[in-house]
Amino acid sequence: MSMSIRGVFYHPYRQSQRGGTMSTQFVLLLTILLQCLFASISDASTSIISEWNAPKPRHSRLLRSALLRQASNEQQNDLWMPLADQGWKPCYNAESASQLPEKSEGYIQVFLDGGLNQQRMGICDAVAVAKILNATLIIPYLEVNPVWKDSSSFMEIFDVDHFINVLKDDISVVRELPEEFSWSTREYYATAIRATRVKRAPVHASGNWYLENVLPVLQSYGIAAISPFSHRLAFDNMPMDIQRLRCKVNFQALQFVPHIRALGDALVSRLRNPTCQMETDTNQITEVTNEKSKQEGKYVVLHLRFDKDMAAHSACDFGGGKAEKLALAKYRQVIWQGRVLNSQFTDEELRSQGRCPMTPEEIGLLLAALGFDNSTRLYLASHKVYGGEARISTLRALFPLMEEKKSLASTEERASIKGKASLLAAVDYYVSIHSDIFISASPGNMHNAMVGHRTYQSLKTIRPNMALMGQLFLNKNLTWSEFEEAVIEGHQNRQGQIRIRKPGQSLYTYPAPDCMCQE
Ligand SMILES: *[C@@H]1O[C@H](CO)[C@@H](O)[C@H](O)[C@H]1NC(C)=O
Ligand SMILES: *[C@@H]1O[C@H](CO)[C@@H](O)[C@H](O)[C@H]1NC(C)=O
Ligand SMILES: *[C@@H]1O[C@H](CO)[C@@H](O)[C@H](O)[C@H]1NC(C)=O
Repeated sequence: MSMSIRGVFYHPYRQSQRGGTMSTQFVLLLTILLQCLFASISDASTSIISEWNAPKPRHSRLLRSALLRQASNEQQNDLWMPLADQGWKPCYNAESASQLPEKSEGYIQVFLDGGLNQQRMGICDAVAVAKILNATLIIPYLEVNPVWKDSSSFMEIFDVDHFINVLKDDISVVRELPEEFSWSTREYYATAIRATRVKRAPVHASGNWYLENVLPVLQSYGIAAISPFSHRLAFDNMPMDIQRLRCKVNFQALQFVPHIRALGDALVSRLRNPTCQMETDTNQITEVTNEKSKQEGKYVVLHLRFDKDMAAHSACDFGGGKAEKLALAKYRQVIWQGRVLNSQFTDEELRSQGRCPMTPEEIGLLLAALGFDNSTRLYLASHKVYGGEARISTLRALFPLMEEKKSLASTEERASIKGKASLLAAVDYYVSIHSDIFISASPGNMHNAMVGHRTYQSLKTIRPNMALMGQLFLNKNLTWSEFEEAVIEGHQNRQGQIRIRKPGQSLYTYPAPDCMCQE
């Protein structure tokens, strides 16, 4: 955990490591101001990049071969085959041990920062803490993230009735602050030191820490507001019923609101039944339906987090030439005052350590080498791609049947989620969890959340070997077949096979053995 190193400087793709909520308000505000200030400069430089210096493919030799690739049937079968049964299943929640406390010790309130996937873990932990304390949970407050800027509330993202109903035998949950505590707001805590605020919960605090430090607050005041709360509950040395409860929240109680699920279902169905979209072109229908293969009706989700924030923070060279290098360096300077750990290393060092997020071109080459051919239906789960279409076009050349929210759903269908990062992320989460195969171009919160949730459901998830890929891409002499072979071999055991959680690791990424049982 490198929590203390980065301090208050927020980390774009490991939101989880950012510390305080209200104590860092000032810094966040400053960040936002700086971002606004910088927006005008950066917009200008982005357009220069895309107009005059479009990022060119960096691995053109590999790319040429990849475009001509032809995957064998055998390779295709292996690739699309569901994960072999590993003897692990979600534990059956039959314990009757769980019951509501006779009397509530008071109200627990939490304020959650980070993106949607980090907040999700905070919600699970909040339920566990309420259970440990025999307290009533107030529906968690979701902070507005300085990068994503979405003010959607818990109720606008998650189905609150479902949440309360699934947990009704475990803890009491209320939607809103009761009248007598209506003063206990975010603003109240932001303006002064307050006795009901628990500010110093250590990272990965034990259950006893809460009993010793928060229970007295509850008993004195009837309410305790914990902030910051992200990553404030340990994964180790927890009673089994608390662990099971965290699993239950993450995998059962948290369901998106109906309109997100409906849109998600529509996207999934259009990905699975592409012929419906081609009704006007009769030739194409027969062509598509005649093509019987193992992948019929199947799709891969590629999560691509490659926005400017991420690109700048990683300090790698992404092939956009001088203009891009300059723009990213400037961004680092403005947002983090140049204090980016990675910028002390050369691009080569970063790559061989696997610390560079893969570009759309690179993840495309990885997928092609694994055997995904050009008839693969690829859904792009992505917010903004730095460099825009110029950068995505290489990936699109490799996977012409690439889709995204925009290409699959009409403007009207997308109206309710437009410009709302958390809702957009929720739709991508939904489409991702329903996919046959999921892969992420950079490890981060979404990647971890999917690895965990898909492991729980025994679904295939490819975890890119970042260090291997970095090294392969540094070697400019590699032939396509050498590259292919190295990629296949390096990913054989990275397709979703069960990995037992080790001490210190997150139960939300490694659900076995806490949430999963061996048959
Ligand atoms: C897919 O690749 C094959 C073989 O290289 C090629 O003949 C075909 O035109 C490609 N299809 C598309 C849609 O690009
Ligand atoms: C919570 O309630 C249970 C059962 O009602 C009781 O055994 C336990 O001691 C209580 N814990 C606290 C912290 O009040
Ligand atoms: C690549 O090939 C060139 C010429 O064949 C050779 O000089 C160079 O050492 C090779 N580089 C690597 C990394 O193998």
